Amino acid sequence: MKQQTITETLKSLPNLGLGLGLRHTHFQHILKHSPAVDWFEVISENFMYSHGKPRYILQQIAERYPIVMHGVSMSIGSTEKLNDDYLKKLKILAEEVKPKWISDHLCWTGVLGTNTHDLLPLPLTEETLKHVCNRIDYVQEYLNRPLIIENPSTYLDFNQSTIPEAEFLKLMAKQTGCGLLLDVNNTYVSCFNSGEDPIEYIKTLPHESIVQMHLAGHQNCGTHIIDTHDRKVTKEVWELFHLAWTLTGGTATLLEWDGNIPSFEDCIKELHKAKDYMLSPTGKTELIVETANEIEELSTPIDFMVSPLMSETIHSS
Ligand SMILES: [Fe+2]
Repeated sequence: MKQQTITETLKSLPNLGLGLGLRHTHFQHILKHSPAVDWFEVISENFMYSHGKPRYILQQIAERYPIVMHGVSMSIGSTEKLNDDYLKKLKILAEEVKPKWISDHLCWTGVLGTNTHDLLPLPLTEETLKHVCNRIDYVQEYLNRPLIIENPSTYLDFNQSTIPEAEFLKLMAKQTGCGLLLDVNNTYVSCFNSGEDPIEYIKTLPHESIVQMHLAGHQNCGTHIIDTHDRKVTKEVWELFHLAWTLTGGTATLLEWDGNIPSFEDCIKELHKAKDYMLSPTGKTELIVETANEIEELSTPIDFMVSPLMSETIHSS
């Protein structure tokens, strides 16, 4: 796929509105009630390895809502060869589900064929940039569509890094034509942990390349923040979202909630706070939003849902 075609395709990607990360605890509710929500994002790995019930449910949901496929193990930053079997399965699922786009993270997720199930950080150097860009080119060619790359949450910086992350993403988008998924919560978490300014980070990004945003909750431990996805979005993240919304002119926006997942209605209520921040001229609102540390215990940030799903009975009426 030529870069010009990638760029044109990227420009044509729609603002899908306000969406929710599809989680198994909400399957029955969605199938039964077809609730009002603009779109869903699905974790690709939860569906690409199964042809049974998960795939059937996804097909039902994809018939009713726009879908985006979001991956957690492409390992675009790894020095190992890209996993052809993974890419093949990803492409097959995409042909079936017809997602609006496919995304993954700027990270590496394993070594010697072992998946760590963690989004591990990269030393941000010229060498890494060249390496990652070559791999994005390969994936875009294989999938015949732009790849959308998300900024991860990080907890440390490499001494070897020579390029600030926002600048790295900007260069990466320019060199490959790939799109960006700006996780506003990850930006806040990473910047807090590394002592960077999240406002400068968001201002540095190439706003025309951002096709989607993520919102999520985190736990502030005082000296550091853990990206838990298990509670409401904090005031600081909402205000950064307002900035990102203004600078990008608005993009598809999605709420991720992976631990202590509340009812579907409560997730929607949290998601719809985004409307107030979009419309606010100052980025401030009258809304009562999460400050920090209301829940002290930590939950597992990533909820892999295939196993519990396989034992559930789903009623689609
Ligand atoms: Fe995210």
